[in-house]
Amino acid sequence: MRTQVAIIGGGPAGLLLSHLLHVQGIDSVVLESRDRGYVEHRQRAGMLEQGTTDVLRDSGVGERLDREGLVHHGLELRFGGAGHRVPLTDLTGRTVTVYAQTEIVKDLVERRLADGGDVRFEARVVDLDASAPSVTFRDATGTHILDCDYIAGCDGFHGVSRPAVPGLRMFSREYPFAWLGILADVPPSTDELIYANHDRGFALHSLRSPSVSRLYLQVSPDEDIAAWPDARIWDELAARFATDDGWTLHQGPITDRSITPMRSFVAEPMRHDRLFLAGDAAHIVPPTGAKGLNLAVSDVTVLARALTERYGTGSETLLDGYSDACLRRAWRAEHFSYWMTTLLHVDPAATQFERRLQRSHLDYVATSKAAATSLAENYVGLPLT
Ligand code: FAD
Ligand code: DHB
Repeated sequence: MRTQVAIIGGGPAGLLLSHLLHVQGIDSVVLESRDRGYVEHRQRAGMLEQGTTDVLRDSGVGERLDREGLVHHGLELRFGGAGHRVPLTDLTGRTVTVYAQTEIVKDLVERRLADGGDVRFEARVVDLDASAPSVTFRDATGTHILDCDYIAGCDGFHGVSRPAVPGLRMFSREYPFAWLGILADVPPSTDELIYANHDRGFALHSLRSPSVSRLYLQVSPDEDIAAWPDARIWDELAARFATDDGWTLHQGPITDRSITPMRSFVAEPMRHDRLFLAGDAAHIVPPTGAKGLNLAVSDVTVLARALTERYGTGSETLLDGYSDACLRRAWRAEHFSYWMTTLLHVDPAATQFERRLQRSHLDYVATSKAAATSLAENYVGLPLT
């Protein structure tokens, strides 16, 4: 079995890469260990940078995104019992769009299959050779070898690609908290996202549609989800979002809940021989800055351009620059995500001095145009270079 690019992982990075390569006439096979239903319903990110929506739209998979995505022009920082709007579009000229990762994955799977693409679910990669190059995978029919020109390691944080890079340098940071995320059948209580800092901890009000809300609560990393019945979740959210002017949080049936650990992680370099790492396989950000999915999209956009140049002209210049170009962007997102996380969460070990500093920092971002602009330009995403 042979293809030009073997793609390990059918998350947003692997599926989008396969689609972008197909648009350029380059063949690929996507090998995904989970089944189709699982990858299409795994609740994760929801906030897309303009650069991300541009890539989807320009490559011809933006039709439903344009119909159902919710374009946002600002966000709210809420602390001290009051809201403070950050006017993202006024400050940067750019917008962000709420459109769930589950929907992007569904759109990409449907499109790859309609275009005759080779996307294999329940096909687990167990080994790879970055110089041959080839990947070995197992599916219901047995063990197979896929020969290729290049391998894209888009298999997330727990995949097999990253360990195949010798001499990798890894940089990481753990946080003393996690996010409890819920999806609820209730109209959002807000038009724009609310990032709340409260003595009880951080909370985020996001949304999925005019009738579905997505909310997150800072919890301890060893929290047991069984200890969070619906009433406790709603009470805690209401307490953290409370304002002095009596804002109310609409409540409804919770349809999905999970706890996500928070970490920062970067692996360098993102290439070994013919193997290229992309997305969560190479870097993880805490979700506060909404950067994880957007970084995965920018990595594979850079990789697709580099492979297009390689197959079109024979030049490997862009492939040689891939790791540095992606790491530059990844480190900016790492810093922003770390900054947003420490600005908004309550570290259980923080002293009163540190809490006062945090409050001063929040006040500064809420009142200084320069500080708000710095948040805004990172949040909407820096241009792809
Ligand atoms: P993934 O989506 O992880 O896809 C990797 C794929 O590879 C998976 O489908 C996996 O099954 C497959 N795979 C793994 N090993 C193998 C193998 N050996 N063979 C074949 N296939 C394999 N970001 C935000 O911005 N906001 C959020 O709220 C948010 N919430 C998140 C919640 C969770 C629980 C997680 C894990 C991440 C969250 N993220 C969030 C981050 C964002 O969802 C990721 O950055 C994004 O999914 C990265 O896409 P990816 O394609 O690189 O990796
Ligand atoms: C969502 C998730 C985030 O991490 C974030 O910062 C904003 C929105 C979401 O799931 O909608």
